[in-house]
Amino acid sequence: MTKVILDVDTGSDDAVAIMAAALSPEIDLVGICTVWGNQAIENTTDNTLRLVDAMGLKVPVYKGCDTAMVKYLTHDYVENVERPAVMHNGKAFIMHSEHLDLPEAVSKPEDVPAACFYVDYLRKAKEKVTLIPVGPLTNLGLALRIAPDIVENIEQIVVMGGGSKITNCNSWSESNIWHDPEAAQIVANCGAKVVWVPLDATHQACITLDDCKRFREIDTFPARFAADQCEQRIIVHNAQQPLDIPDAAAVHDALCVAYVIDPAVITDLRHCHVEIGLSGYGEGQTIVDQRAYPLEKNGYFAYDADRFKFVDMLCDCFKRGKK
Ligand code: BDR
Ligand code: CA
Repeated sequence: MTKVILDVDTGSDDAVAIMAAALSPEIDLVGICTVWGNQAIENTTDNTLRLVDAMGLKVPVYKGCDTAMVKYLTHDYVENVERPAVMHNGKAFIMHSEHLDLPEAVSKPEDVPAACFYVDYLRKAKEKVTLIPVGPLTNLGLALRIAPDIVENIEQIVVMGGGSKITNCNSWSESNIWHDPEAAQIVANCGAKVVWVPLDATHQACITLDDCKRFREIDTFPARFAADQCEQRIIVHNAQQPLDIPDAAAVHDALCVAYVIDPAVITDLRHCHVEIGLSGYGEGQTIVDQRAYPLEKNGYFAYDADRFKFVDMLCDCFKRGKK
């Protein structure tokens, strides 16, 4: 079993990732850190706790940072414009609702802040731990700044973030990296094995309305809830970011979890040098050195994924959930 810490800004696709990780027999989920991103930190933490309670999980949740390490101290660029809600059958849909449609949380976050949890837990860890950050990288960036020695106990960092040919936040960046480029740059060069699962791969591993039907037939809580999240995402994708496959949505964060369960779900992973753009045009860009004689290779960048395998893996996880 692989020990895993998730770092989430829950979030519709984060929710699917949490459920897959919690239900995989290959993963021992030892903690969940939260970070701002898709919503404010109060919401992403509350959403995470709601889901943890709904799943009946006994996994500690550590509340993390409410903004970037550096960026918003000096920020004077034009921010990405908020996308309007999409109207569908008389209802308004956005990619990530303020509150997940679940009962209010009873659980509370731990007292320890997420960055401190990383330091405490990793320093004491008896075996190496896999980190799966799927929101802005602020908590981990801070932890690595406070205690760079924690890399010794990191098996790998599987990041949802970045994009080479595809971006979503502006014409050059993906939103997790855009939100905290400095933290991403610290992670890129921390010395641990870093696997970037960017939009190039997550858009290939899209989930269709037919896949949602498969989830619904499984008829467990996580399968139904994943179908809800994916259908909501499909409505918004169709209106704002249509994919090559019709009636489909990327469910980015869950692909990172699937990769940890079985790396074969990523079908094109290239060892390369990855750098993060830190200012001006190019801020938050994942710059992959594609030259014949590149800078020293510091990570792995995913370009493609097997969507059929991905959906099968999610189904296997959801079958293990409670009714
Ligand atoms: C990433 O940004 C967030 O909106 C999603 O949860 C995902 O982690 C995709 O760009
Ligand atoms: Ca996310």
